[in-house]
Amino acid sequence: MDEFIREASSLFESRFGRAAELTAFAPGRVNLIGEHIDYNGGRVLPCSLSLGTYAAASPRGDGAIRLVSADMAEEIVSSADEIAALPCEPAAFSGFGWAAYPLGVARKLMERGYALGGFEMAVCGSLPRGSGLSSSASLEVLTCAVLKRLFDLGLGGVEASLVSLAAERDCAGVNCGIMDQFVCAMGRQDHALLLDTNTLDYGYIPFDLGENELLIMNTKKPRRLADSKYNERRAECEAALRAVGGLFDPPKSSLCELTPEEFDTVSHLLPEPLLRRARHAVTENRRVALAAEALEAGDVGRLGRLINASHDSLRDDYEVTGRELDSIVEAARSHPAVLGARMTGAGFGGCAIAIAPKAAAQEVIDLVAERYKQETGYDCEIYAAETGCAPFGEEPDK
Ligand code: GLA
Repeated sequence: MDEFIREASSLFESRFGRAAELTAFAPGRVNLIGEHIDYNGGRVLPCSLSLGTYAAASPRGDGAIRLVSADMAEEIVSSADEIAALPCEPAAFSGFGWAAYPLGVARKLMERGYALGGFEMAVCGSLPRGSGLSSSASLEVLTCAVLKRLFDLGLGGVEASLVSLAAERDCAGVNCGIMDQFVCAMGRQDHALLLDTNTLDYGYIPFDLGENELLIMNTKKPRRLADSKYNERRAECEAALRAVGGLFDPPKSSLCELTPEEFDTVSHLLPEPLLRRARHAVTENRRVALAAEALEAGDVGRLGRLINASHDSLRDDYEVTGRELDSIVEAARSHPAVLGARMTGAGFGGCAIAIAPKAAAQEVIDLVAERYKQETGYDCEIYAAETGCAPFGEEPDK
């Protein structure tokens, strides 16, 4: 952590010729279970990570905005006035490259009436980009945390996650759900966050796997959310809801309002593939409730079985896994000590997770790395997940 704070600070100093007024961190996230249901009104159970995005920043009196990133040579220059005048649409922000995220956040804060001036910010990060650990949500939330402190905004964590989501959707053009931004803003170290995406009710469950640990397995197969079948799946879920939601009294306003039992009474009315897409949403939502219970009770074996069932549903019913994720998950499951494994995030590449006894973790890592390379030709990267604290995670927001 200190190493990256230092990197952000020295990048700031070398580019802007003075010391930064503040530094900040926002985590990435890993989702334990509850996949592809944050846009179906379901519950999700992610953790904020110790890996994340770092910033060093200072205000500027002249209204200019200057942004630099450790990964990009080019400095992005704009101004508070220019950003205030931009329409909130991807075409207006795409020219800013990576800085569409922080500038989108600034724009969305202004839209909500927050007064921002100019500022300088240097960012760097420890999250592998495009690996499905939410580097973009992390950068958005980081910007909220920085601007809150620079301009003394009365911004709470739930609002920061909504601002970040609005920036992602409207300015970056990715039509995602609320999970990533919410946990990057509100997560707590050593806890999982249980979030009801319908009501935004949330709570924390101690993340204690006993003698086991959570492994993050990066397939190294890059995935691009905007290019993936993400929007197609959303549209399929909306179509399924339109077909059956109105048959209930009161009508269902999201798929995850249906219990699996209710779903069984109407599923025959859905054509393929809508039937399977909706079945994933409804059953995954139930699995999250059971997984939260299992985690709370310290029943890691049960949690592992639910995680397995989640992957199988994402593979067979939702069809968002693909060869690399299936292969890495199968490789992990082939070790007898592994309690469960699944893809995490949007799918189509990116990362998977596995729960393994600490004592067997190295053996699992070696086995997975070898089998995965044999089957796909990719070198994967596997490490134990460490949870981290989000910038708004310890603040009273409710
Ligand atoms: C991406 C999106 C999230 C969520 C997951 C799938 O990470 O940003 O909103 O939909 O995919 O669970």
